[in-house]
Amino acid sequence: MLEAEILQAIDELDQARKTRDDHWQIPRVEGELLYHIALSSNARVIVEVGTSYGFSGLFWGAALKQTGGRLHTIDVSQKKYDSAKETFARAGLGGVIVNHLGDAREVLKRIDGPIDIAFIDADKPACQTYFDTLWPKVRPGGSILTDNATTHRTELADYIKGVRARTDASSVEVAVGNGIEWTIKRR
Ligand SMILES: C[S@@+](CC[C@H](N)C(=O)[O-])C[C@H]1O[C@@H](n2cnc3c(N)ncnc32)[C@H](O)[C@@H]1O
Repeated sequence: MLEAEILQAIDELDQARKTRDDHWQIPRVEGELLYHIALSSNARVIVEVGTSYGFSGLFWGAALKQTGGRLHTIDVSQKKYDSAKETFARAGLGGVIVNHLGDAREVLKRIDGPIDIAFIDADKPACQTYFDTLWPKVRPGGSILTDNATTHRTELADYIKGVRARTDASSVEVAVGNGIEWTIKRR
């Protein structure tokens, strides 16, 4: 059960997708899946590449508030950084979520592991770079979730082929929302 102030922020951003042409946020059903993945794995450290206005971050934050964990979320847009930070504070998640402003290729280098879950949801050509920086910091049994596996199938084909060929990973597409490539680091 989501707290009332988090649910209110989720409802507001879900409505705002009708008026903002740059929200690019995951469908609500996918956010609900992320919430359950984080809760069921008792995640304590989640890293998100691509904050936008904070829609997916609200689901991560709702789970992490219960597990006592932290979300590090990154966006290169000053406008979105400011807006998401304000939304997270209003939802009572200011102490749970750390907003980072900048190019994720640089910011990720400064975020320490071990990471329980990483969520890649930004510019598609850089997916492999994000994965390569994150993977050594993901704990054994931890996951990298890559958004748009279904909606950007052609664009992500080489990337997905690569993660599925890894001997230290198990990777599968979950066809919910935009489609998530779920890559688990073998123990
Ligand atoms: C698909 S949206 C993220 C949606 C968000 N995860 C959600 O579901 O609410 C992608 C975001 O990635 C950001 N972005 C694009 N390139 C980036 C980069 N190199 N570093 C950090 N953020 C980047 C964009 O500004 C945009 O807000």
